[in-house]
Amino acid sequence: MPTKPRVFVTRKLPDAVEARLQRDYHPVLNPRDKLYSTQETIAGAAGCDALLPCPTDRLDTEAVAKLPASVRVIATFSVGYEHIDANACKARGIVVGNTPGVLTDATADIALLLLLGAARGAANGEHVIRTDTWNIWGPTAMLGTHMSGKRLGIYGMGRIGQAVAKRARAFDMTIHYHNRKRLPAETELGAIFHAVAEDMLPHSDFLSINAPSSPETNGFLDARRIALLPDGAIVVNTARGPLVDDEALIAALNSGKLAGAGLDVYTGEPSINPAYRTVKNAFLLPHLGSATVETRNAMGFMALDNLDAFFAGKPLPSRVA
Ligand code: DGY
Repeated sequence: MPTKPRVFVTRKLPDAVEARLQRDYHPVLNPRDKLYSTQETIAGAAGCDALLPCPTDRLDTEAVAKLPASVRVIATFSVGYEHIDANACKARGIVVGNTPGVLTDATADIALLLLLGAARGAANGEHVIRTDTWNIWGPTAMLGTHMSGKRLGIYGMGRIGQAVAKRARAFDMTIHYHNRKRLPAETELGAIFHAVAEDMLPHSDFLSINAPSSPETNGFLDARRIALLPDGAIVVNTARGPLVDDEALIAALNSGKLAGAGLDVYTGEPSINPAYRTVKNAFLLPHLGSATVETRNAMGFMALDNLDAFFAGKPLPSRVA
């Protein structure tokens, strides 16, 4: 019987995923879910054929250069792969796979939760209940903004952006979007395309950020672009923190230029810009986009599908390098 490939797994994975790993591979697991330094990951991968990292692991140029020669494939437990230097992997002949598709619905659901939560003051509402500071129902108390019938701008109309649009249509929202490429009419479903992102912003009572993090998209929502949004707009981000200029967003929330924001992702998470904690009109979640049992199992299984394909000499279901 051929020996099973050795896989270094950087985080504790769902039980069903670890059971499949145990069955088909020699995994080096992390039962206590210790957060490894890059050095520890490099050392731990010694003698392993594969690496199964998460977005919390940084595999930059230097780290990829130091990976043991035995590592031939990296199957990340995530759709985003900006934590891995894909070019450096390509140069070293290391194949990289990710997990698109399986977390689309879960992430779009969280975007809707954020849109509604930010529009209706959910964070403050919950705060007054928990702190026993709710005075009484009042005709003018804690008024939010209606979401139904408004205009939603979507920055990045890939799978998740399209799933957000689908849900927003149930609220009779008019969809505007910016994407690198215009979608075909049967996918666009009447959404209004803006070839230039700045042209979409004045039409966005609500803005959902759904583009991947890259040198082109990072810093997208800065003070200049916030100024292009209608006064009282609401912004949500379920993509990646670096797409937003935190200082600019916090200033716009504090000044009232923006009525609210819903954030699931942050630059430097979990060490987020501390000023967010004091912004009352921000509805904040801790990167819950894909956090359902079903989705995390599916992400793990897709990472394993990538490994299975690699070791069977077949094309990966999703290869990014
Ligand atoms: C991903 O897979 O990139 C997500 O951010 C995890 O929730």
